[in-house]
Amino acid sequence: MANWTLETHDLDRLGFTNLSALYGALGARPIPGLSERGGALSLSWPDRAWLAEGAAPDPEELSLIEAARAGQDLRLPLWQPPTPEQAAALAEAGYAVTTTQVAMSLRLDPEQRWPPSPDVARVEEPELLTWSAALSTAFGYLFDPAAARRLQADPRAELHAARREGELAGTAVLFVTDEVAGIHWVGVVPAHRRRGVARRLMHALLERARARGCRWVTLQASAAGLPLYESLGFVAGATVRTYRRLARRSS
Ligand SMILES: CC(C)(COP(=O)(O)OP(=O)(O)OC[C@H]1O[C@@H](n2cnc3c(N)ncnc32)[C@H](O)[C@@H]1OP(=O)(O)O)[C@@H](O)C(=O)NCCC(=O)NCCS
Repeated sequence: MANWTLETHDLDRLGFTNLSALYGALGARPIPGLSERGGALSLSWPDRAWLAEGAAPDPEELSLIEAARAGQDLRLPLWQPPTPEQAAALAEAGYAVTTTQVAMSLRLDPEQRWPPSPDVARVEEPELLTWSAALSTAFGYLFDPAAARRLQADPRAELHAARREGELAGTAVLFVTDEVAGIHWVGVVPAHRRRGVARRLMHALLERARARGCRWVTLQASAAGLPLYESLGFVAGATVRTYRRLARRSS
């Protein structure tokens, strides 16, 4: 899909491509009229639009995104900083940065093993609603259970749950594209935090990534997740700024 004519770091590219494929699995479609650089948009969960390479939209491209979003709330994750002109167009359209993450990657050593995580397991169909609710509580936004069902049906995806004291305490998704394992939605519900649940989830997912023959693991870290990923050997790459339209255009 992306042609990477821009100088994007190779590891960031792996992570971006994995994430785009994940959103594609959730129903993202090409943005009408955006033929030159390409881009995609999802008007259902995760309600996002992005251009190839995670580039910031030029004013004309932003107009096409605005037309395609058909009045819906959208997020625009940018893997590259906008130019002053692009930043001005985003501000004029009512967009501001609401989330900042760090793209991270890890080269998998096929010989490495992680401690076993007996309290982490794949999610079964009857538990998808509970799993989606736990993810929503962990992240503080509403995760659509329809997205969980879509992923559950996709052989590239594995939905995992961690249990603690008989409750579903944590969530995570492994999404495999070629030799890359993307780790997404590592979340622990507040009542179970600081007890090593996220670390055990990561150990289980890294082991699954190795077992599936992946060579690279990618993720986009929040500030809360960053120390854990660094302690596991992940290396920081691009800063991902997610813009969200907070206000209507004033004119
Ligand atoms: C980030 C999150 C997943 C951590 O879950 P957790 O189960 O509390 O983490 P763990 O107990 O396994 O801790 C693992 C490491 O993370 C770090 N950590 C955990 N909570 C932290 C916090 N609130 N602030 C700073 N570092 C923290 C520590 O370095 C800890 O290492 P230690 O075991 O040496 O103390 C959890 O806080 C969460 O769900 N946050 C909201 C969603 C989110 O941001 N997810 C990450 C997306 S990338």
